[in-house]
Amino acid sequence: MKLWSGRFSKNTSQLMDDFNSSIRFDCRLYKYDIEGSIAHAKMLGECGIISQDESNLICLTLEKILIDIENGEVEFDVESEDIHMNIEKILISRIGDVGKKLHTGRSRNDQVALDIRMYLKDELNEIKDMLVELIAVLVKTAEDNLDTIMPGYTHLQRAQPITFAHHLMAYVQMFHRDYGRLTDCFKRLNVMPLGSGALAGTTYALDRDFVASELGFESITENSLDAVSDRDFVLELNSNLAIIMMHLSRFCEEIILWCSHEFSFIELDDAYSTGSSIMPQKKNPDVAELVRGKTGRVYGNLMSLLTMMKGLPLAYNKDMQEDKEAIFDSIDTVKLCMPIFTKMVSTMTVRNDKMLSAAKGGFTNATDVADYLVKKGIPFRDSHHIIGRLVSYCIENNKNIEDLSLNVLKSFSDKFEQDVYDEICLETCIKQRNLPGGPAPKSVKASINKIKQSYNIE
Ligand code: ARG
Repeated sequence: MKLWSGRFSKNTSQLMDDFNSSIRFDCRLYKYDIEGSIAHAKMLGECGIISQDESNLICLTLEKILIDIENGEVEFDVESEDIHMNIEKILISRIGDVGKKLHTGRSRNDQVALDIRMYLKDELNEIKDMLVELIAVLVKTAEDNLDTIMPGYTHLQRAQPITFAHHLMAYVQMFHRDYGRLTDCFKRLNVMPLGSGALAGTTYALDRDFVASELGFESITENSLDAVSDRDFVLELNSNLAIIMMHLSRFCEEIILWCSHEFSFIELDDAYSTGSSIMPQKKNPDVAELVRGKTGRVYGNLMSLLTMMKGLPLAYNKDMQEDKEAIFDSIDTVKLCMPIFTKMVSTMTVRNDKMLSAAKGGFTNATDVADYLVKKGIPFRDSHHIIGRLVSYCIENNKNIEDLSLNVLKSFSDKFEQDVYDEICLETCIKQRNLPGGPAPKSVKASINKIKQSYNIE
């Protein structure tokens, strides 16, 4: 018999039960549902809404149910629809009438809002830890590569010389902001909705603050209608996860390029690569490709959630049951990708020689040659034009700028002197870009130290 069967004269069809039920996916909330119910029952006892004995019996039984679930001894059933009614039904089957008092002053609408918030708080913290692990690996690799010269790109064309450390630290800044976004999102998750009832609160004199502090919430929701119909926090978290995946995916794209023969900037460890079933020579970056590919599902979930919410009148609507599979999948995907991505990066081999020779080709010091003439008194626009002609000469003669003799250089501008060679070597180009935020080893080291400090990285 259903917990709500009173006003019905016949049973729901099997088809209806299967369609309506969420137990196959919301069963993952069992722990939070039970913890929430224990806090609620405790409060009912404290406030004298049920007796202390009844409260104790409910709490004790719920704790036992939790253990039984964890030991795999409980089977949920589709007929009881969702995790909330499954657990309540088990409670009633064990302690009868006393169990029927648990739902006093509560609705599944505020209950489900509570459960998801509790669940997401935990998941969010786990993802933050994973971000810190990734940041630590990137910082360590950056420290090892402060002087590893590589070409920096725009339009995927070699542009100016940078270091591998600088490139890695660019991603660290992205993941650092991701971490900040999660911290921010946590504040809005950390608000306790119980006491909002179905939509209009309740006439029982519940102690909402008691429940909030029992469950470790910072504060309580301010409007009962909003509390049961708000899923902003799900959207916000999914947006943050989508941005994390976007960052991972860009990084993956570069890793895929870098381990192609054409770049050969890195080599992935055999443990994180795959072979081909037909081509014996192949070593494929499947991890990076899968992470890039899985980004799509997290974006898709965000779009599902936004669309699911956009037309809903206040307050709760059953549409909102659809929030769970989407956000669960986003969380699962991020938690699947982060650790393996971190492993892949921590085990890759950096090919300094290949990076350096790529930086040496492609005229990545052309801006610095132009700046050299500017320092000798030529206006930048004129100097830019002169170096453009110089580069075109080099292309025709298959030479780098620094390979040209001083005589040849002088035929483009009489301002060239012997000191040009020191000024335009890649080391100098990088070392002189030493403003805060620049690629000079000194600047990169400063930003590494800042990050290490804020995450307590050794
Ligand atoms: N399983 C439901 C959900 O996930 C719980 C809330 C049900 N509330 C209701 N009024 N039917 O949204």
